[in-house]
Amino acid sequence: MIEIFNIEFQNPVFIASGVFGFGLKYKNVTRSVGALFTKGITLLPRMGNPPPRIYETPCGIINSVGLENPGVKEFCRSILPRIKKINSRIFVNVAGFTVEEYAQIVEEIGDRVTGFELNISCPNVKEGGVLFGQNPKMAAEIVRVVRKRTRCPIIVKLTANFCDPLKVGRACIDAGADGLSLINTLYGLVFDIKAKKPLITGGLSGPAIRPFALYCVHRLRELKVPVIGIGGIMTGRDAYEFLLAGAKAVAIGTAVLRDPYAPLRIIEELDTLLKGGK
Ligand SMILES: Cc1cc2nc3c(=O)[nH]c(=O)nc-3n(C[C@H](O)[C@H](O)[C@H](O)COP(=O)(O)O)c2cc1C
Repeated sequence: MIEIFNIEFQNPVFIASGVFGFGLKYKNVTRSVGALFTKGITLLPRMGNPPPRIYETPCGIINSVGLENPGVKEFCRSILPRIKKINSRIFVNVAGFTVEEYAQIVEEIGDRVTGFELNISCPNVKEGGVLFGQNPKMAAEIVRVVRKRTRCPIIVKLTANFCDPLKVGRACIDAGADGLSLINTLYGLVFDIKAKKPLITGGLSGPAIRPFALYCVHRLRELKVPVIGIGGIMTGRDAYEFLLAGAKAVAIGTAVLRDPYAPLRIIEELDTLLKGGK
């Protein structure tokens, strides 16, 4: 049992956004983890990107899913009631293209969930498509506006792509965020050498990014706020390293795509380590 934001979680192993949908398929796994970060929700429905959407790379994958989701209205109508029945801790991952979109999504969902994880790795369409998360001022503005619309915990999911997550994280905490999660995927590209053009451009995840993710989490220690460590965690030992680096909990991403039951194994392995075993 751990406590973050004055809320109890049965263990520190969470599931990262985008790899487990809304947790409705493997309910026993959703019920066993500390919390689930849902797939990203936008204001309007999105079809996502054309294939290929996932490509295997050395020690990782590149994904270009493109935030496929039913939009917040449909989420509230048909998915939220089913998630609530599972009775687990759920953070809705929120994605927007303007500051106001983030606020509208949070307001629509209200206090029906454990909290929100703001995915700020989205382009600000009003600022020429710069990622919100690459700019401390833009990231903080989202938090300020969302803070006024909810009393639930707000976690900001930081990017480490061409920016310093410590600077952006500090700005978000100063603006009223309760915690931070990191890292989101890193930029990645694979070439089709026959066609001599990119085969896939997208987000790199998996063990390839783990040491960098760990470094970023460690870097955030000085903020002294709850941090959820994410990036290439495949085993309890990996998770333990993130806790040693200062994370309060971890979230499992790519490992779940390979094995939906991986979180159950990681919970056991981590528990053994925390009790002093090997
Ligand atoms: C297929 C896929 C979809 C993802 N979708 C989202 C998303 O909707 N919102 C988000 O904040 N992160 C999303 N992520 C990023 C993950 O939550 C996680 O931060 C990242 O993959 C690093 O963790 P990992 O190496 O354990 O996968 C996605 C990752 C993958 C692989």
